Amino acid sequence: MMPPALNGTPTRPGLIGGSVGYFLLRRMTARVGPRDPCAGVAYQSRSKVEVLFGPQIWERVRGRVVIDFGCGFGAEAIEMARHGARKVIGIDIRDHVLRTAQAAAEEAGVGDRCVFARHADEKADLIVSIDSFEHYDRPAEVLQVMRRLVKDDGRVLVSFGPPWCHPLGGHLFSIFPWAHLIFTERALMRWWSDYKSDGATRFSEIEGGLNQMTVGGFMRLLAESDFKIARFEAVPIRRFRYLFNSLTREFLTSIVQCELIPR
Ligand SMILES: C[S@@+](CC[C@H](N)C(=O)[O-])C[C@H]1O[C@@H](n2cnc3c(N)ncnc32)[C@H](O)[C@@H]1O
Repeated sequence: MMPPALNGTPTRPGLIGGSVGYFLLRRMTARVGPRDPCAGVAYQSRSKVEVLFGPQIWERVRGRVVIDFGCGFGAEAIEMARHGARKVIGIDIRDHVLRTAQAAAEEAGVGDRCVFARHADEKADLIVSIDSFEHYDRPAEVLQVMRRLVKDDGRVLVSFGPPWCHPLGGHLFSIFPWAHLIFTERALMRWWSDYKSDGATRFSEIEGGLNQMTVGGFMRLLAESDFKIARFEAVPIRRFRYLFNSLTREFLTSIVQCELIPR
């Protein structure tokens, strides 16, 4: 039986494993090692928050308490504070990114309205979660935490991607399109351990996590959550949009976006 991944979908076993898989991975990446194929290409010199949620997002954050769940180094939280959020709470599991985010907020002159921490106890008008749902180790629990942290008349805005079956959905493990599905997790983790000394033996154990979230898996999580779906969109990879349908959706979705309302 295939072991269940943390998002509830089965872990895909991969086709090429063992020493052959490891050997091929080493050969293909001999000079470069793991590199994130998605890093920094999409939002150069543009506001990621505005690109993902539209310019009306600034009206929605102004004067509000906002939580940025999975805030990373805090760029989006700081931007929301700059656009007039009353308070922005950035939540992340990595202490060093939280410290860097707080320093960046001070530097940007919004340190008094930004808090970066592992947990929050204040309810928010708006929770945003950007490029993080494919990283949370226990995404169903994160939805429960979000429900506790959002006001009854508040909203949650989610955008994440690429999802797991996208050609680059394996993030650092997508050394070529769909490599993360073609090679076994064991072969990929053996290759990974040649470059990183984090001791990770599963995708989920790398820094920041990777939970193999699919579009379908995310929809199932939402259906079981304490949220109603106000809007849901699986956005196709632009150049393949003509091939996008219910059969190809899992493989050709670039990002998943939704707006959630507390039940
Ligand atoms: C790809 S980064 C996205 C950061 C930022 N939101 C952005 O868009 O640039 C995903 C973040 O989710 C964080 N993360 C992973 N699991 C988490 C959890 N259970 N709770 C909070 N943050 C988590 C990681 O540490 C990482 O900083």
